[in-house]
Amino acid sequence: MSKEKFKEYYQEDNVTGTYDAQRLGTEYRRKKRGIELNLFLELIDKHPEDKVLEIGCSSGFLTEQLGVVTAVDTSKEMLKIAKKKNPSAIVLEADMFKLPFDDNSFDKIITMRVWTHLNEDDLRLALKESKRVLKSGGILVFDAEEKNWLRRFIHFFYKKIFRITGYKIYPYSIKRMKEILNEEGFGWEICKFINHRIGRQIILRVTSI
Ligand SMILES: C[S@@+](CC[C@H](N)C(=O)[O-])C[C@H]1O[C@@H](n2cnc3c(N)ncnc32)[C@H](O)[C@@H]1O
Repeated sequence: MSKEKFKEYYQEDNVTGTYDAQRLGTEYRRKKRGIELNLFLELIDKHPEDKVLEIGCSSGFLTEQLGVVTAVDTSKEMLKIAKKKNPSAIVLEADMFKLPFDDNSFDKIITMRVWTHLNEDDLRLALKESKRVLKSGGILVFDAEEKNWLRRFIHFFYKKIFRITGYKIYPYSIKRMKEILNEEGFGWEICKFINHRIGRQIILRVTSI
């Protein structure tokens, strides 16, 4: 149910129409987005021969930088914006839990600020489906929010003060994330952190084994 609500939230007109303005609306957010973008691009390390899939491309903030790429999302309106930003991308309306691709289709998968909205059951489903379409030894880059007590305590007020919108975030401890990835058949490779006002965003590069 949670994954359905997540999908529906990003199909609402007021969310689609204001997404870029929200995410890049202040100097702090622009700076953080820039740092995040550079880390994602560094970890995906895209070569011209790589077949890359982006999951949950939304309005194309990352898609724009990826050159030739297959980008999926469940929001038609977001996909239109992404295609305008990167005309060489193949953009498709598709569900990350049921991807319309054969097994072993991609060398690399990248997904930014998407799985951070998944509870553990849904995260495991997304990992399984990505593993299916990823070649053995393929690379997966994604982010998560680190669990910490301060975050849990002040998150409610923080959202109100800084007028943060967006769907609920599910934080994970590093230990738990390692266990989940291990159980779902991924090897831990690189982990980078971005400090923000109430915690840390974790950017992970893992390998399908
Ligand atoms: C927070 S936005 C993130 C976007 C983008 N990657 C970025 O960093 O700006 C989450 C995106 O995930 C998409 N989404 C939600 N459920 C999905 C699903 N089941 N399959 C594919 N995309 C989905 C939403 O439509 C939305 O565009």
